[in-house]
Amino acid sequence: MPDSSKSKVILITGCSSGIGFAAANLLAESGHLVYATARRNESVAKLDEWSKAFSGRAVADQLDVTDASSIDQVVSRIESERGQIDCVVNNAGYGQAGPVEEVSIDAWREQFETNVFGVAAINQCVLPMMRKQRSGRVINISSVVAHLSLPMMGPYCASKHAVDAMSLALRIELAPFGIDVILIEPGPIETEFRSNVDQNLETQTDENSPYKKLGDAMNSYWNRSFGKTAAKPIAVARAIKKAVESKHPKTRYRITAPAKFAPHLVSHLPDRLLDRIIHWQLKLK
Ligand SMILES: NC(=O)c1ccc[n+]([C@@H]2O[C@H](COP(=O)([O-])OP(=O)(O)OC[C@H]3O[C@@H](n4cnc5c(N)ncnc54)[C@H](OP(=O)(O)O)[C@@H]3O)[C@@H](O)[C@H]2O)c1
Repeated sequence: MPDSSKSKVILITGCSSGIGFAAANLLAESGHLVYATARRNESVAKLDEWSKAFSGRAVADQLDVTDASSIDQVVSRIESERGQIDCVVNNAGYGQAGPVEEVSIDAWREQFETNVFGVAAINQCVLPMMRKQRSGRVINISSVVAHLSLPMMGPYCASKHAVDAMSLALRIELAPFGIDVILIEPGPIETEFRSNVDQNLETQTDENSPYKKLGDAMNSYWNRSFGKTAAKPIAVARAIKKAVESKHPKTRYRITAPAKFAPHLVSHLPDRLLDRIIHWQLKLK
């Protein structure tokens, strides 16, 4: 039987699949009160079905991180139903692929609207409540690419660098209020993420692009390596659970071997050597 005295009220974004759903499921199973949100109505309907197994400890709701009114509605609902919010898991996000030169500025903006401004907007909405409580945890899902940028993934890597930078500033700003900020930095994880990247890469680069060869090299590198190093979403969910429950959480949880060693490579190797290693990995001449 879960210990209700330790149960936290948790808001999670992007629960239609992958890491968000795995985290919602694990946290609800562990006895927490989980508001599992998704942006599309059909996803909310599926989450609603799933939530029935948890007799009120899991709640499904609609939330698009780019829509201020949907954020406001969900946060107000939690405030009126629970009177507190202990943790927010900023998970919603996607990977905009394509060469920096060719990705349309609209696609760049959309990437930042979701992955960066979406996180800022959610935090701005929940933080007044957390400051009043003088407690809370903000758990931001970043990525290994917050440290190591990959070619043909510039917009996504830039967005995750921004999430990391925002989180570090926020952690210092919020410490006096008893609120902690924790980064989750996964490497490759088997979710819908990869196929969504492939889809938007196709729409961003045409056959005659000068970056076509690089795009193909990146694709075959991912096909060769993603499966070898990828973990299941439950591995990330377990790290999120630690960030929620641990008395003294780490500031960062890195999941998979690439996520653990990439930041060390970046801080110890000269930039030009790193570029050469990436060229070699992509089998580029
Ligand atoms: N998989 C990886 O290799 C990997 C590695 C490092 C970090 N991450 C990060 O992990 C997080 C979760 O991704 P995932 O791997 O679990 O991929 P996923 O299965 O594609 O899940 C992404 C979730 O984000 C949601 N989302 C996208 N835009 C949204 C918006 N505007 N408002 C609300 N929800 C939105 C998606 O909803 P829809 O179903 O409606 O699209 C989906 O629920 C992302 O932040 C991603 O950058 C993933």
